[in-house]
Amino acid sequence: MRNPDRANNLYAGDKEIGFVSRNVGLLAMNFMLAAKDQGWDTHAMDGFDIEAVRELFGLPEKYLPVMLVAIGKKLPTQELLPQAMRRSFEDVCEVR
Ligand SMILES: Cc1cc2nc3c(=O)[nH]c(=O)nc-3n(C[C@H](O)[C@H](O)[C@H](O)COP(=O)(O)O)c2cc1C
Repeated sequence: MRNPDRANNLYAGDKEIGFVSRNVGLLAMNFMLAAKDQGWDTHAMDGFDIEAVRELFGLPEKYLPVMLVAIGKKLPTQELLPQAMRRSFEDVCEVR
């Protein structure tokens, strides 16, 4: 049987931001991949003024904005900056 108190305890306090961020990360990645599939370009951002975003979108206190994703279409003539350094798969993962 579902117990809402149990869920509240699991994700309460210090654990909340980690839980929210992991879930938003998964959702955002799916959104960005689906957008790319449909011909859109996206740009994830976490460097923003949380209170300004809250006010702009009229978000109640119970919502915590943790990521913005801009979506649009890059001008074909627009050059992108060179891609930042990426660690290799082997650098960051170990398959056992
Ligand atoms: C979690 C996350 C947060 C980011 N926050 C910002 C941001 O606040 N501002 C920004 O310009 N780019 C931000 N970026 C970077 C861009 O979304 C994008 O990944 C980057 O510009 C791609 O360039 P690269 O391929 O050279 O890494 C963020 C990326 C991630 C994954």
